[in-house]
Amino acid sequence: MGEGQTYFTVVAYFTALVAASSDAFQFTNPDGCGHDVSHSSVMMRTTQRAQSFCALRCSQDPSCQGFNWQREPENGVHSCELVDAASDEHGSHLNVNLGFSYMEKSQSGFQSATTTCRKLKTRDCLCPAGYSQMGCSCYKFNSAQTDFETAQASCRSDSPFSDIVSIDSAEETLILKQLVLSSESGDANQFTLHDAYDFDGDNQNYVHSSKGNATLSYINWSTNEPNNANELCVAFTPNSGVWFDVPCSWTTLQSICEIDKNFNGCSC
Ligand SMILES: *[C@@H]1O[C@H](CO)[C@@H](O)[C@H](O)[C@H]1NC(C)=O
Ligand SMILES: *[C@@H]1O[C@H](CO)[C@@H](O)[C@H](O)[C@H]1NC(C)=O
Repeated sequence: MGEGQTYFTVVAYFTALVAASSDAFQFTNPDGCGHDVSHSSVMMRTTQRAQSFCALRCSQDPSCQGFNWQREPENGVHSCELVDAASDEHGSHLNVNLGFSYMEKSQSGFQSATTTCRKLKTRDCLCPAGYSQMGCSCYKFNSAQTDFETAQASCRSDSPFSDIVSIDSAEETLILKQLVLSSESGDANQFTLHDAYDFDGDNQNYVHSSKGNATLSYINWSTNEPNNANELCVAFTPNSGVWFDVPCSWTTLQSICEIDKNFNGCSC
């Protein structure tokens, strides 16, 4: 690997990041495959000590099609990037990735793929179109009033990492209130979904269902709430910031989608 080439790739990578922050998902790729990157395929980047662990991560995830493996370790660990598209899917959207090998999932295990190109990472470090970055999260307000399932499906259709917002602090509540107030069609006094769920209908022990039933770290019920064991979903009114238990089937619930970068493995 020539030093000049490495430098060029690094510059290209940062050029891509700068371009992307102002114009999400539009990448200029001046070298290598020579095409603009408009898709993101790297789902997650982790570090691993051995390639077999990277392969294991990929094999455990049905959406993982292959991985980029950093050949030389840094401080004893290698970058392991899981990608969700096969090398032929975005063939014209690849960027040379010096120092990495791309291994593709196949019937018989992982095979070294023909390309030496890399799928650029955008999904978990940049907010998708329509989302605003605030703190470590990307948010999108959805003023359409629907039931819980429709709202959740809408978030998921934006990104597999997008879910109904999980409210973790009073500060986050204020951010969400501003988000709703700044939208043209939002009603800050309307019930707005929060990803908290009462699985056993006991009016207590609510969990974040999108985060593998993680217990809530912050709680702010309105007076006398939760008050109904049949109301398994939770909504808040952005103006008050306080929570109410509500039926998941109500079709008058506004929603906010959130991509929590810490949760999906991206540092911020
Ligand atoms: C959350 O808990 C419910 C009820 O126990 C269970 O049905 C569901 O599978 C759990 N979800 C996860 C991701 O563990
Ligand atoms: C509940 O939310 C309101 C509005 O965000 C806030 O003023 C209040 O301090 C919160 N209470 C708690 C216990 O966090």
